[in-house]
Amino acid sequence: MWYFYSPTIVFGPDSLDFLENIKGNKIFIVTDPDLVKLKLVDIVTDKLKELSKQYMIFSEVEPDPHEDTIIKGAEKCKEYAPDLIIGFGGGSSMDTAKSIWAFYENDRPDFGVDDFHPFQDLNLGRKAKMIAIPTTAGTGAETTWAVVITRIKEDGTNIKLEQVNKELIPTYAIVDPVFTKGLPPKLTAATGFDAVAHILEGLISSWKNDFSDALGIRAFDLIQKYLPRAYKDGSDEEAREHMSNAATMAGLCFGNSQVILGHSLGHVLGATFHVPHGLAVGLFLPYVLQYCLNDPENDEAKEILGRASKMVGLADWSDSDGAASKKLIQGVKDLQKQVDFPQAIKEIGISKEDFEAKLDFMGEMCLESGAGVMSPRSADSTMYKKLYQYAYDGKDVDF
Ligand SMILES: [Fe+2]
Repeated sequence: MWYFYSPTIVFGPDSLDFLENIKGNKIFIVTDPDLVKLKLVDIVTDKLKELSKQYMIFSEVEPDPHEDTIIKGAEKCKEYAPDLIIGFGGGSSMDTAKSIWAFYENDRPDFGVDDFHPFQDLNLGRKAKMIAIPTTAGTGAETTWAVVITRIKEDGTNIKLEQVNKELIPTYAIVDPVFTKGLPPKLTAATGFDAVAHILEGLISSWKNDFSDALGIRAFDLIQKYLPRAYKDGSDEEAREHMSNAATMAGLCFGNSQVILGHSLGHVLGATFHVPHGLAVGLFLPYVLQYCLNDPENDEAKEILGRASKMVGLADWSDSDGAASKKLIQGVKDLQKQVDFPQAIKEIGISKEDFEAKLDFMGEMCLESGAGVMSPRSADSTMYKKLYQYAYDGKDVDF
């Protein structure tokens, strides 16, 4: 038996107006300090004022949100006792809001982030509903039941916890492109490539299904067309709107299939060298796809990626699966070039020396990442290290 999980999604220009249809008068807004400074959050609070609703803003979310920030926000949320929680921002703000929601609904001293797992009843929605409002087009966190939380271990190293529970899906996702208009080109590219990774990893994940496939293919088609336009001209409203929709569709794709080892490599590199999520997973994507296509025991990835390549016009229908899937990887690399995206780790300011010093550690840490579990081709720490080395130098994967 299969399920398809999704929030109620409101999308397109002026979709923020939907707030007036959502019951609730006391709203706890979770966001980051930049969105307050840029006055982007004012677009939301002006709307709430117009609707005579009360609100409180918690704006302490940092990139790669820490467990401590979630606990702090949860305390503020409990004091305020809202009937709606809004996660406003990129993946970090939305994941923090989802986590705060769980703490708020489970107000007991022994409750913690480790309780976000598939077998736990969180009973969310009794005290508050949750609304996710993305301000980037990429993370898909507005649609998913996963949260990524950084934990600082006693030895000072960081670990990114990938926690999942089906109840952590927001009640509503309001996908209004007004918020992405001012997104700088670099961030447009990085978050856009997070969505591309969600699609292409989601299409070949072991949990892929007809529903996730359909959303992924259409989203990839939209991103190919509109990401370069949104990158070159941030005020291109048509491009922004389609990118917002595509990122949410990509979120539904991987949220209902799963990501694979590109996200393991990306999370570990990100936690070790503070590389933004979209940049890391976008960079690894061609390497990971090559690795899965080279699987000596399974041709399924070749079939799927070959078909996807034909459907989005990167390959001809007469091409073999092998040829078409190679054209898809070339298409990903070409898209990277169009938005000046780095194609090797050595290009992002990590010295060979620092990289090699952490290589064994990163290879081991990838084994702790849940994202690798659904990969069509698995990897041990030696394989992960090899993938890191090839991605460092920008070498095509030949193993
Ligand atoms: Fe991602």
